Amino acid sequence: MRSLSFQSLLSFAALALLSLSEQGTASTTGLSPRAAPACADFWLGKIAHTGVAPHAPAGYKVFRNVKDYGAKGDGKTDDSAAINKAISDGNRCGPGCTGSTKTPALVYFPPGTYMIGSPIIDYYYTQIIGNPCSLPVLKATSSFSARWLLDGNPYGANGLAWAAVNVFWRQVSNFVIDLTAAPATLEVAGIHWPTAQATSLSNIVFKMSTAANTKHQGLFIEEGSGGWVGDLVFNGGASAMAVGNQQFTMRNLTINNARTAIEQLWSWGWTYQQVNINNCQIGFDFTAAPGNDLKVGSVVIIDSSITNTPVGVSYGNSAATSSPAIANTIILENVALTNVPTAIKSAKGTVLAGSTGKKTIAAWGRGNAYTPTTGPTSFQKEITPNPRPADLLVGGKFYTRSKPHYAELAVSQFLTARSQGAKGDGKTDDTAAINKLLAAAKAANKVAYFDAGQYLVTGTIKIPAGSRITGEAFPVIMSSGSYFANSASPKPVVQVGASGETGSIEWSNMIVSTKGSQAGAILIQYNLNSASAKPSGMWDVHVRVGGFAGSDQQLPQCAKTPNTVITSANVPKACIAGFMSMHITKGSSGLLMENCWIWVADHDIEEGANNEQISLYVGRGLLVESTAGSIWLYGTGSEHHQRYQYHLVKTRGVMMGQVQTESAYYQNNPDATVPFAKVDAYSDPNFDKGQSGYGLRVLDSKEILVYGAGLYSFFKNYDVTCSQIGQGSSCQNRIFSVMNSSMKVYQLNTVGTTKMITYNGNDVASASKNINGFVQTIARFQT
Ligand SMILES: *[C@@H]1O[C@H](CO)[C@@H](O)[C@H](O)[C@H]1NC(C)=O
Ligand SMILES: *[C@@H]1O[C@H](CO)[C@@H](O)[C@H](O)[C@H]1NC(C)=O
Repeated sequence: MRSLSFQSLLSFAALALLSLSEQGTASTTGLSPRAAPACADFWLGKIAHTGVAPHAPAGYKVFRNVKDYGAKGDGKTDDSAAINKAISDGNRCGPGCTGSTKTPALVYFPPGTYMIGSPIIDYYYTQIIGNPCSLPVLKATSSFSARWLLDGNPYGANGLAWAAVNVFWRQVSNFVIDLTAAPATLEVAGIHWPTAQATSLSNIVFKMSTAANTKHQGLFIEEGSGGWVGDLVFNGGASAMAVGNQQFTMRNLTINNARTAIEQLWSWGWTYQQVNINNCQIGFDFTAAPGNDLKVGSVVIIDSSITNTPVGVSYGNSAATSSPAIANTIILENVALTNVPTAIKSAKGTVLAGSTGKKTIAAWGRGNAYTPTTGPTSFQKEITPNPRPADLLVGGKFYTRSKPHYAELAVSQFLTARSQGAKGDGKTDDTAAINKLLAAAKAANKVAYFDAGQYLVTGTIKIPAGSRITGEAFPVIMSSGSYFANSASPKPVVQVGASGETGSIEWSNMIVSTKGSQAGAILIQYNLNSASAKPSGMWDVHVRVGGFAGSDQQLPQCAKTPNTVITSANVPKACIAGFMSMHITKGSSGLLMENCWIWVADHDIEEGANNEQISLYVGRGLLVESTAGSIWLYGTGSEHHQRYQYHLVKTRGVMMGQVQTESAYYQNNPDATVPFAKVDAYSDPNFDKGQSGYGLRVLDSKEILVYGAGLYSFFKNYDVTCSQIGQGSSCQNRIFSVMNSSMKVYQLNTVGTTKMITYNGNDVASASKNINGFVQTIARFQT
């Protein structure tokens, strides 16, 4: 999440005014409504709204239907004020509040056309959800004059309302955002989204003017530490998206009839997957280059298509005169062109010819390459694409699956946690009630619905094969007590499948946490053998350790201690918060995770704590030991664990992109050996004295594919100097270690780390040879 000073913002490449073909008809939404039940019966509107917010004042309402706040959705009335009332009601965390988990909200929009005369302001910890069976339309009025229609982070006197890198736990899903009635020459974007991890935009159609002089934009992002967006359709506009952020994963974007499909303002790393661009003038514009300081660090584009567009990819770097020399590190793999005369061009002209017919770019890249024994080798050319394991693919593309909205199910097919006796009040022991809910839902083939709340559990929660689970406003399962307190005998808080069980699950929109000292807690243990069935899916399921109200791991208990030498003897026990965040066990297989953020809090989130830093100790991040593999990690992050953020051991067939890590800010006081001792049963890595934990370690594994990784070490004992430009990347020595494994990596970005790659114990790549602005970038590493 780290806030640093970023290149930004609001810099727009001068765009030629070019004529465009007419926008498509209403059917260009690309969405086909599903069959029964009727849209008016969408379960989310009908289900008993019994969510609670245990740390909010009495009477606080989590669920809000905008119509209950006076919104008409009649295509005539200006509904902006009513919608903003629905979002803000209950003294919630709006602009001016630094953050809060105490006032979660789910704001629901029934079908209708909601006229918007002034911006809709999003609040902290909010799900804004439309009816997926008939998408509600947010339509700008003809007199709309603001910069954004839906504003995720408004500008005030002191810049953005929230530090963009601290905006977590938000969603917007199932809408049409229609700007076509606003003047074409109004510089307006449908959504302003400078946000960070655990946020998502999905299933949204943007409609914009296709006039030659249009200034409309669909999505605008100028800062942050994202994040994931997907299942978006854009029609028209000057640019469908104008986006800059540290890192992002963007999947399944369809862009029709925009002038520039994607205008990249800046990036460290970015993964574009399944982007389909039709009838634009430029597909990807990476030329953003105020001064001579190229802003687009690295990008990977896979499994995508560009059609009827004169220029596919355009970048600014012309190495001899550009700084940094390896800016615009780009990789394309499996990109199909149809009538794209210039596939790729630089400031100097065509780099890769296209075709007026069909042409597929199997793979192309530019940047620095390494193997365990060679590098840096600067390259700019067509390259051999990665060998892709067949079980990770469908029709040659990587398997993907979008989060289910269950639009086809009647409300009777849901079973709520409250109806099974779970309180969610953060105090009552809900272990038995939740296990009853999950067993009953499975027996009746219903979806288990977690009403908003904090569900305290003192024993393991068991998710059986066949479960479908979703939550309201990010409900929290929070472990507590002695069962999870013994690091010599770790226990799962949530266990997905018994060891050896076959089958799969769907799980979305939830958080797993701990309360107080929990040295033996494994927050999520995944055991299911799913590869032989349908892969399991986890979407927007997050681990969040500490930093929030009710965790007993906040500023009063766990304030940072950079001026005390921390050893095993004096680590505050109250701040040892978990053994491991997530374990994908040996016998498991077949798991897709999308937009899952595994976070040990580095600061106290709640209003009043002012984002002050805290030191929490969790031994390990995500351990993947699945022997059979078949694992897709799309847009995942893992941060601030002791020994590693990701560890792949004796596994195979893992697709990772974009993965993002941060080392613990307290390291190396203590270093990665404290407080959790090495446990061989968990294949813990060894460390030299003084070393910090790994971002990514891979041991005895094969067919490991990384499509974008950002491994960051911003601090050394809370001092940020070591990661700043010109300071020698000296926060830690090593962050990415591969042992006896076959793997292919595109777009490795590191921060604050002297040696970027270590293979079989030998340091292979130095940060100093790969400087790319604030980060260091290697385009390609292959063992
Ligand atoms: C892409 O998103 C659209 C809109 O939500 C959806 O209809 C389609 O199924 C998605 N396709 C994939 C491959 O996820
Ligand atoms: C290397 O990894 C393979 C599994 O990929 C394993 O069978 C072998 O024992 C390992 N070799 C060494 C020297 O560790």
